[in-house]
Amino acid sequence: MTKTVLELRNVDKSFGPIDVLHQISLKVKEGEVLCLLGDNGAGKSTLIKTLAGVHKPTRGTILMDGAEVSFDGPRAAQDMGIATVHQFGGTFPLMSIGRSFFVGVEPTRGWGPFKIYDRKKANAIAVKAVQDFGITRVDDGDRLIGGLSGGERQSLAIARAVHFGARVLILDEPTAALGVKQAAHVLRIVNEAKKRGLAVVFITHQVMHAMAVGDHFAVLIRGAIAADFRKGERSREEITDLMAGGETMADLEAQIEGYAEAQTDNPPPPSP
Ligand SMILES: Nc1ncnc2c1ncn2[C@@H]1O[C@H](COP(=O)(O)OP(=O)(O)OP(=O)(O)O)[C@@H](O)[C@H]1O
Ligand SMILES: [Mg+2]
Repeated sequence: MTKTVLELRNVDKSFGPIDVLHQISLKVKEGEVLCLLGDNGAGKSTLIKTLAGVHKPTRGTILMDGAEVSFDGPRAAQDMGIATVHQFGGTFPLMSIGRSFFVGVEPTRGWGPFKIYDRKKANAIAVKAVQDFGITRVDDGDRLIGGLSGGERQSLAIARAVHFGARVLILDEPTAALGVKQAAHVLRIVNEAKKRGLAVVFITHQVMHAMAVGDHFAVLIRGAIAADFRKGERSREEITDLMAGGETMADLEAQIEGYAEAQTDNPPPPSP
């Protein structure tokens, strides 16, 4: 049996009068990738921000290792091993790889007020952690983050989270802005994190990416879980329809038709 690391039970989230999440119950398990799917505005980011301590649930409970927890902010969630990797890796382009790896946790030499940032040590640790993930192109910790590709940056951010002991890795559309090769690279790193026993929450709009790494899928429609299934239980077509909020390809074609007709009903004014 795989162990549940993080669990939501009947979580609601409202912002003032706006109800965004309704009765969300979900389990995030060790060594598994949970794919969170859903159309724009379905509540995916709100859900992971609630998992990551950015938002407090309006109602319901969050459990970590079976015990109820309440995060006093993202830092508290981080200290419990919940790491969020944002799009573009959340790093600074003009910072070196070694530096960015240790932002906030610099290894130091000496003691007391004489502590200084140990560049060589930081670089060696960062490069080793990144290469252990199979990102062999990163071999110089002095290189700037800005010189890495989008996929490498994402991978670096994931390697960093794993290095510092993350148990839950939350990825909000890490492959959204990437081409095929770069996305494949990030998906490989996601699989590697899973092999190391991390519990991964992966948000994507791309069915292929979800199917490539997902063990468990949850589809959000207007803030509620509309479907919850495991790998192999739904076809690619079914998942695509669910991701579009239950709309089918025929609905989409009808909408495009309707749009074209509306255009011809209101022709643009003739140019002078
Ligand atoms: N702080 C907030 N205050 C009020 N409404 C909010 C807030 N944050 C999110 N919402 C609303 O909640 C709904 C869900 O937003 P959310 O960002 O979670 O969607 P999403 O599934 O991540 O969409 P996308 O795929 O576009 O990233 C939207 O209607 C949004 O306007
Ligand atoms: Mg979002």
